[in-house]
Amino acid sequence: MAAVAVAVGMWVGAAFRAVAGRGRAGTKAVVFERVPAKGGVIVKKRVGLCRDEGGVFALLLVCPHLGCTPRVEEGFWQCPCHGSRFDFTGRRMHGPAPRGLTHLRVRRGAEGLIVELEREVPGAWRLKL
Ligand code: FES
Repeated sequence: MAAVAVAVGMWVGAAFRAVAGRGRAGTKAVVFERVPAKGGVIVKKRVGLCRDEGGVFALLLVCPHLGCTPRVEEGFWQCPCHGSRFDFTGRRMHGPAPRGLTHLRVRRGAEGLIVELEREVPGAWRLKL
């Protein structure tokens, strides 16, 4: 029984290090050491970590039109290439982008909040703080 517990512990530790390592490398996750204030945004590696009254959510900052990087301007996301505009939560306000920005899952980690780049979630999803 003790051997099984040690083996499980080693596996969990290895899995955690693998996830954390990918986070640092930025290939599968982006780690945010700080949390934005309500109504605020922190941008890192084409991910916007945002906070509203419901909690924290993450947007993939890749315009659904042709892939440019939207920038936050006065509470909106504005694409500099062809003028698409999205509201603070990533909903499309006007095109040419055919849809809103992609929402990504956020979870707590030892280093901070981790945004999982391969885990899309519905637009209403929030991490409660
Ligand atoms: S790439 Fe964003 S509007 Fe065209």
